[in-house]
Order: sequence, then structure tokens, then C-alpha cells
Amino acid sequence: MAAQAGDTIYDEQRAPLTLGRLLKSGGAGSVFLIKERPHEVAKLYHSDKGGQVYERKVRAMLELRPDLPDVEDKGVRQVQIAWPTGLLRDKARGFLGFTMPALDVAATSDLEHVLQERQAREEGLPTALGPKMTLAANLAVMLAALHERQHYVVDLKPLNVRFYRKSLFIAMLDCDGFSIQGKGERFLSEQVTTDYLAAEFQQRGVAAGEEEAQDRFALAVMVFQLLNSGLHPYSGRPNGATLPSDLPGRIAAHLYPYAQGRGDTRILPSPVSGHAAFPAELRDMFDRAFANQARRRPAVAEWSSLLLRYARRNNGLLVKCAKDGAHQHFSGMPCAACARKTLLANSVRASKARPGKKAKSGLRHQQRPRATGATVTAAQNAVAAAPAAQPVGRIGFRTRIVVAIAGPLLFGWVMSWGMPAYRSYKAVASRSWSVDMMLGMHGGLLLLASLVFIVFVPMLILSKRP
Ligand SMILES: Nc1ncnc2c1ncn2[C@@H]1O[C@H](COP(=O)(O)OP(=O)(O)OP(=O)(O)O)[C@@H](O)[C@H]1O
Ligand SMILES: [Mg+2]
Repeated sequence: MAAQAGDTIYDEQRAPLTLGRLLKSGGAGSVFLIKERPHEVAKLYHSDKGGQVYERKVRAMLELRPDLPDVEDKGVRQVQIAWPTGLLRDKARGFLGFTMPALDVAATSDLEHVLQERQAREEGLPTALGPKMTLAANLAVMLAALHERQHYVVDLKPLNVRFYRKSLFIAMLDCDGFSIQGKGERFLSEQVTTDYLAAEFQQRGVAAGEEEAQDRFALAVMVFQLLNSGLHPYSGRPNGATLPSDLPGRIAAHLYPYAQGRGDTRILPSPVSGHAAFPAELRDMFDRAFANQARRRPAVAEWSSLLLRYARRNNGLLVKCAKDGAHQHFSGMPCAACARKTLLANSVRASKARPGKKAKSGLRHQQRPRATGATVTAAQNAVAAAPAAQPVGRIGFRTRIVVAIAGPLLFGWVMSWGMPAYRSYKAVASRSWSVDMMLGMHGGLLLLASLVFIVFVPMLILSKRP
């Protein structure tokens, strides 16, 4: 029977514990408060899930904890990672699940929300380069601690990574889904998300022993997105050739357009990208991460030491923009946020100057590669803000011109020729069938002309400017 609030469960020392409120039920299990332990929660697996494997996996997690202690932010304890703290059993000693530290989920947001700039602004989440660099560095530090114990996230993506809104520390949940190194046994992770999956795994998935390479790739994608307004490193402009329209297809085909030097000629960078304003050492890291040879990908520890250097304020590697106080940029480099703002404003202006037609500005190609499956990519949203998506009026510009000219002409014709002709026909008509037909034709024309005038001219006047 499914566990519920009020049930008694037991820890490894057979101490009874009472389940409190159900916090959430997920795909693998249900998470409950524990009455006797306010700082812990219980995750109880659904009974149809492979209990035996989970028991060994959680035991392995207890034996090899990553070095990620809770952190204090202004006197408030912040749990960095919801790692198991003990096994939970039923009265008959059967395995039920595990305890883990309770995390204040309400004080956190997921990284996906930061990558969607408009949403981030609306929710008061960071939009400037500085805090995003801090988030990227903190994420790399967290992964480095996991990798040190040979644990890997595998299904690493912005939606699966949370952070404390105030302190910008990372908070990791659902760790029993990671690939876990046990003593002489590896417990695999079952899920992947193809928008964050390295080229070599797109077809066949991630096998045991390959998880680190996958985490290295996914981290690089997320860092690129954090530092580049949510833009996915495999979104760009096809350069003539027909290319895959979805991100996984582009990853598999190595269509990375932001490399230094000559790069791939099949695809061009998105014009809103700020990659040209990254310092060379950062660009080198991205170029290695997205190179065709997987062995060149930087380890997460390399990322953490580089990003921490940039995130530390007193290093002065990021500076406030002189033009816009809300912007930050790499020291000695132009402000990418300003360039992006100008580009977007120009593009909006251009699309306004060409109403009725799809904006043909340089941003039109921002039609991003398709996101796949359940994965919602940040590229999607970064591009959703592009001006090509500006609504246009329902009546096109050309239609309005035609109606504006034709309407008065028709009206003039009706008044100056049609109407007198109709009257004179009526006056002189002998009641023959041919005259009746003429009168009918003129009557029809009159009706049509009046309709055009009555319907289209007010529509022209009332319709909003695109
Ligand atoms: N340590 C925790 N503290 C507070 N809440 C938690 C904790 N762990 C999990 N939760 C809550 O429970 C939810 C489900 O947890 P979790 O993701 O571990 O379950 P799951 O069954 O593996 O879900 P999924 O199918 O999404 O992988 C989380 O989204 C979160 O809201
Ligand atoms: Mg899970």
C-alpha cells in the first residue's frame, strides 16, 4: 500500500519515525516531511520500482559522500545537495527509501528560469553577467566535488539544477537518479536530455564509463548559455546548406558556429551572440568543449578554477558597463549586453518600418533549431525574444494601399457615373427583358461598390498599425 502521512517507518537503528505532510510525489518515489526530524525528509520509492537495486545504490551513496557540506548565508543553513543520510525500512525490515536533508525549495529557482531573460527579469532573477558567472562557477564547483567521487549527474540540464535566489549557491535534488560509483559496482543513470547530450551519445545513449564525458559536455553547454543570454551553442544560421533544424541533430553533426578561427562554414553564429566579447581563454575552453574530438573536452574542475577566477569580484575581470549600469562585461572587452540591446532595438525598428512583411532584418534567421521531446531549451526562449516574433497587423500594408486607392475610385465612379446612369435607365426604360437585365447588372455593381466603401475603408482606418 502507498505510504501516507501518519505512517510509521524505521531508520537503520530501528528508531520509529512518523511521516508528516507529503511534499511531492515524483516518478520514482514520494517525498514526505518527518515529524521527529524537522531538518530531514523521507523519500519512499513507489513499490513497483526496483527496490533491490535502489537499496544497493543508496547504500553506495552513503558510503561515498561528495564533499559538499551545508553552507551558511547570513545565519541561514543552506543545503547544497540532497544526498542520502540513512536508509528507511518498514516494520519487517523491508527497504522503503532514505532520509536526506530538507531543502527549502521555495527559496530556490531552477536555472532554466535564469536563461529565459524576459522571465528572469519578471521574476527578479539575475540577468547581469556577474551573477550568472557566479552561478556557472558554483555549478562547476558542485560537479567537480561529485566527479571527485566518480559520481555523475548525466541528465544535466538547467531544469535539473536549482540555486538559492539570495546567495546564488547551487542546490541539487534527485541525486539518486545520478550515476553512482559504488564499491566495485556502478549504478547507472537512466535518463538523458538530447538538447544537452554530446554528439557521440545522440544515437546510442551513455554507457557505463562514459558519464564523465557527458557531464563535461552538458556543463559547457550550460556555461555557454549562462554567459550568452541563454543562447544554445548549437543554435546559429545555416549558411546556405540545408541543415538539421533541431538541436540534437545539430549537435550530432558538430554544427558549432562559435569557434575561433575559420570554424565550420556550414553554419554562422547568431548575431545576438556575445561570444566575440568573451576573453580568449574562455573561448578556448568552449572550442575544446565543442570540438569534434570528445577527448579535448575540459574537465569540470578546469571549468571551476577558470570560472571562479572570473566570478571573484576582487579579481576585477568583470566590470560594470559605463553606458548602462545594469550591464557588466569582461574587462577590456566591449559590452555584449549593449550590443545585443542595440541589435534587438534596430531589428524591432526595421520590422516596424516594413509592416505586413516578415521582418527581414539580420535577426530573422533566429528561427531557432527545434527543441525536442520534453526538453525545453533556453535557446528557444532567447530566440523567442527576437523581433521576428513581433506581431504584425492582420491587414497587410499592400492590401491597405490597394483599398485606399480603389475605395475612393469606386465611390467616385458610383457617384459620378453609376448613379446617374442607373436613374436614366430607370426613366427611359421600356419594360423589356434586356433592359431589366442591364438594370440588374448596374444594381449589383452599385451594391458591390457600396460594400467596398462601407466595409473596407472603415477597416483601413480602424485597423491598428502593425
Ligand atoms: N531534500 C528535499 N527537500 C525538500 N523537498 C524535496 C527534497 N527532495 C525532493 N523534494 C521535493 O520532492 C520532489 C520530488 O523529488 P525527486 O525529484 O527526488 O523525486 P523523483 O520521484 O525522483 O522525481 P522525478 O521523477 O522528477 O525524478 C522534488 O521536486 C522536490 O519538490
Ligand atoms: Mg528522480
